[in-house]
Amino acid sequence: AMSDYLWFEGVPFPIIEYEKEIIEEIRNKFVIRDEDTFILTYPKSGSNWLIEIVCLIQTKGDPNWIQSVPIWDRSPWLESQGAYPLLINKEGPRLISSHLPFHLFPKSFFSSKAKIIYVIRNPRDVLVSGYFFWSKTKLVKIPESLTTYFEWFIKGKVVFGSWFEHTRAWLSMRKRDNFLLLSYEDIKKDTKSTIKKICDFLGKKLEPDELDMVLKYSSFQAMKENKMSNFSLITEDMATHGLDLLRKGTTGDWKNHFTVAQAEAFDKVFQEKMAGFPPGLFPWE
Ligand code: A3P
Repeated sequence: AMSDYLWFEGVPFPIIEYEKEIIEEIRNKFVIRDEDTFILTYPKSGSNWLIEIVCLIQTKGDPNWIQSVPIWDRSPWLESQGAYPLLINKEGPRLISSHLPFHLFPKSFFSSKAKIIYVIRNPRDVLVSGYFFWSKTKLVKIPESLTTYFEWFIKGKVVFGSWFEHTRAWLSMRKRDNFLLLSYEDIKKDTKSTIKKICDFLGKKLEPDELDMVLKYSSFQAMKENKMSNFSLITEDMATHGLDLLRKGTTGDWKNHFTVAQAEAFDKVFQEKMAGFPPGLFPWE
C-alpha cells in the first residue's frame, strides 16, 4: 500500500523520522555553507564506511571521537527529522550525510563551494545489501522474498527511489571541482589510496602513521566492533533484533543470490538505463 512509505514527489521515504514539510524546507531553504562537506549516497553503497573514514581524517586517526559519539550524530542525515535544527545551529565546518536524490537536494548547494563526496556501488550488491538490511527495520515496506525486492528495486519502488535515477542525476556533477566520485569497489580494492584521495580533496595532510590509524579504525572488523558505528544503538521502534550494518562487506555478493534469469534481466536494465556514460566509470561492469 502507498502508506508503507512516506511519498514525496514520487520518491518513497522511510515512514519513521521523515516529514514532507521538512523535506520540502530542506530543498528550498536550507543554507549550505562553503565550508560544508557532504557524504552523498544511494542507501547501502558504503555511506557509513565513508563517514567513518572522513571522521577519522578529521581527527588525524585519533579514534576517540568515533568511539564516543554515534555515527549519525557525527554526520547527521540532512533529510531526517532531527538533523535540521541541529545543523542550522551548528557553527563551523559541518559534516553532513544525505541520500537525497539530486532534484530534492538544497538549491543553495548549486551556488556554493561546499564539497560532495558521492559513493557509488554495484547496484546488484546494493540490492542484496538493502534486501537484508531493510527487512530487519521497521522503516519501510518489507518484501516477502528477494524476488519481490528485485522487482521493486528495478522499478525504483524502494526507499529513496530508483538507483538508476539517483546515480544518473548525481553523476552529472562529476566534473565539478567540489565533487568527488568514489566507488565502493575502488575503496575496497585500495583503501589507502582512497583515503589519500579524500585527504587531497578535503585539503587535509596526514602523516604516514596518522594515515595508518585511519585505515586501522575504519576497517570492517573495527567498525563491526565499534558500537557507535555498527548500528547496535538503534532503538527497537526502528529495527528488529539482528539488524546488522556490517553484514558482509564484500563485492560481488549478488552472485550468491541472483538467479541466472535475474542476472540477465538486471544486465539489460543496467545497459538501458545507464547508456551514455563512458566505459570505465563503473568499475564493476
Ligand atoms: P553489505 O550489506 O554488502 O555487507 P551503507 O552504510 O550505505 O548502509 O552501506 C552498508 C554496506 O557497507 C554494507 O554492505 C556494509 O557491510 C558495508 N560496509 C560498512 N562498513 C564497511 C567497511 N568498513 N568495510 C567494508 N564494507 C563496509
